[in-house]
Amino acid sequence: MAIFDLNINGKQHQVDVDGDTPMLWVIRDHVGLMGTKYGCGIAQCGACTVHIEGVPTRSCTTPVSTVGNRKVTTIEGLSEKGDHPVQKAWLEHDVPQCGYCQAGQIMSAAALLESNPDPTDEEIDGAMDGNICRCGTYVRIKAAIKTAAEMK
Ligand code: FES
Ligand code: FES
Repeated sequence: MAIFDLNINGKQHQVDVDGDTPMLWVIRDHVGLMGTKYGCGIAQCGACTVHIEGVPTRSCTTPVSTVGNRKVTTIEGLSEKGDHPVQKAWLEHDVPQCGYCQAGQIMSAAALLESNPDPTDEEIDGAMDGNICRCGTYVRIKAAIKTAAEMK
């Protein structure tokens, strides 16, 4: 066990865990932020996606010891009032079905638009490729990303 001082959503959090503990469990079990979901645990579904220094990252396979003082953003920290353009577009298009994958989808979409404000269809497909939705909301996700790009 060791103490890790983490910057999550703009606040410092000290956690006492093994260095190989995945960030997903640190975020959920130690910091108490439940928006980031567990799907597969092997970086294959995207449900656990957070940003580390703005880069979409699978928290299920990111050991806490590798994070250092880089800024971690979870779905709870994406915007203060749920009013990030991607979140607004998600509401406008009524994207979620069961909702389980959606935090990861939104985090991947937000990171895409940060690095590429006007993505093509192919670029959206490429960026969202690793985020699986068992409910098949892909068509609405793509439409919402285009709406969010227009808002931005
Ligand atoms: S839970 Fe991390 S990618 Fe599936
Ligand atoms: S909305 Fe159900 S898994 Fe994506």
